[in-house]
Amino acid sequence: MTKVIKTKWHILCVLAMVLIMAMTIGGCHFIPISDGGSKKGVASIIGVSQANMREEWRVALINELREETAKYEDIRIVTTDATGSAAKQIQDIDNLIGFGMDLLIISPCDEKMMGDKIKEVYDSGIPVIVMDRAVEGFDYTLYIGPDNEVIGQQAGSYIIDLLGEKGGDVVVLQGNPASVQGTERLSGFKSAIEKASGINLHEVYMGAESKDAAYDMVITARKIVEEADIIFTYSDNMALGACDALRELGLESKVMIVDCDGFKGADEGIDLVSQGRLKATVSCPIGGKEAIDYALSILNNESGVPKQVILRSNIIDKGNVEENLNRINADTVDDGRKIKVGYSQVGQESNWRLANTKSIEESAKDFNIELHMEIADQSQEKQFEAIRSFIKEGVDVIVVSPVVETGWDEVLREAKAAGIPVIMSDRNVLVENREENLTTTYLGADFVEEGRRAMRWVRDNVDAGDGDKHIMEIMGNVGASPTEERDRGFREILAENPGYDITYSAYGDFTFDGGRKVVREYLENNEWDIDIIFSQNDDMALGAIEELKAHGIKPDDDVKIISVDATTEAFEAMVRGELSCAVECNPIIGPQLMKAIRDLCSGKQMPFRIITDEKVYDQSVAEDYIRKRLY
Ligand code: AHR
Repeated sequence: MTKVIKTKWHILCVLAMVLIMAMTIGGCHFIPISDGGSKKGVASIIGVSQANMREEWRVALINELREETAKYEDIRIVTTDATGSAAKQIQDIDNLIGFGMDLLIISPCDEKMMGDKIKEVYDSGIPVIVMDRAVEGFDYTLYIGPDNEVIGQQAGSYIIDLLGEKGGDVVVLQGNPASVQGTERLSGFKSAIEKASGINLHEVYMGAESKDAAYDMVITARKIVEEADIIFTYSDNMALGACDALRELGLESKVMIVDCDGFKGADEGIDLVSQGRLKATVSCPIGGKEAIDYALSILNNESGVPKQVILRSNIIDKGNVEENLNRINADTVDDGRKIKVGYSQVGQESNWRLANTKSIEESAKDFNIELHMEIADQSQEKQFEAIRSFIKEGVDVIVVSPVVETGWDEVLREAKAAGIPVIMSDRNVLVENREENLTTTYLGADFVEEGRRAMRWVRDNVDAGDGDKHIMEIMGNVGASPTEERDRGFREILAENPGYDITYSAYGDFTFDGGRKVVREYLENNEWDIDIIFSQNDDMALGAIEELKAHGIKPDDDVKIISVDATTEAFEAMVRGELSCAVECNPIIGPQLMKAIRDLCSGKQMPFRIITDEKVYDQSVAEDYIRKRLY
């Protein structure tokens, strides 16, 4: 940080006194940092509104934020503890605003009740990083959190492998039923276990999530525990209680324990694995490091800040505990060296794709990255060839925007064997076994959400009337992730809204001609009876519009047309009154991708997913935004 705002220091002094007084009346903590910090004055104040300080990972988050902030001389954080109350959390945020915070990091105690307050802060121009629990809508700067459902699934898959074909008995220790995190982990765990046969779950409910409650419960449930192979529980605290109880019962060498959290520190998950008391822990990344890293990028107005970062969780057992500890403790440095990247681009099918290619090429130069891009003309074979040539060349990182979702396992295994990480950009793949970790991260849009947004716009703007609205869906190419996922999201909201149905659905391959052809073929065989067209991209929508006009059907008047991408051409069509709505899919992902590549090469752990920022536009706002379009 270079900017120095002297007045902030004075505000901070007053604030420190106010907050120290407040500590005595209720959970508000001023966090001082290293002595050196006060010499240069304060450039920025980061306000941290924590939901409560009862849960151990929340304390861990505050500690991590503190450690990270201490590395910067001119940044201060001020934390507040809402003690689990939404009303208090709203008051805390108002206090932080009064103190002149420049950025808010919030872990909301109630995602529904805090949504409006977060939106209010964000709308006022103060950037907001939401952590752990996502709020509804997208009125915040960035969301960072784990995928608790996946954490539970990882634990479930590990236990399935551990028990092997003969299966076994698993005691499931459950804490507070109101814990969102716990509920999601349990649901992921059960969904994984359901896929295996021969595993009997014995669910034990405790009502509280603490070491002591877990200890008591294991002792009380002694009879079941004696017959069990494994205890599964979803926090380090509960795992420690279970470990102590097994020791007390003399069952330590008979019953294994698997948990989630995997925190570092004495008697936390990783340490218990090192001690051999825990068979495995699934790490729940805390995200404090990432939050401060992104907070600085936001405060410095840097490019490359995504909308959502879904943090990576790892299974840690005896076999990899050292490696994980080394990674966690290592300081990552970007040495600025030239990085070589091989990029397999799917093709040139749309205006979106051209903008995407341009963004990647330009950003590579900005980030001092040597880029070798191969265009695959929609051929998976060509993409295999490109990936293999990158492996031969010995690039540092391979990036793929895949034409279809499936069929990549073999070539990805080859890249892994060569020690070259693979990033999925814009589109993702489906691999047979996630635990193989064949890809490093996915960076791009949330296509399912785009589909949902399209149908939400229909629901809110096209009256279902007598309940007989016919929809034509023009899809992209068969098997591509945007095709499958946009369709899934659209149908999800459609299913909640009787009165609309998809009467016709066909592939237009994301091209202008493809969209035109879908409408032409429909008209060759049917009377026009379509009320709404959902086109999975702009190019196909524009092709469809041309064909409709050629048949005397008025776009927007006779049929509402919703497309995805929101290119300049789509805005022009909205201004002309032909396209009804464009759901944004942002192709300008070059800066985010290059930042991720540099992070990866400097040794940082990659998140599972990095999701871009996107909005919805219709004719009512098209004029205002058309000049600002970047693609
Ligand atoms: O993968 C993104 C999709 O591919 C865009 O929506 C489409 O225009 C492109 O061709």
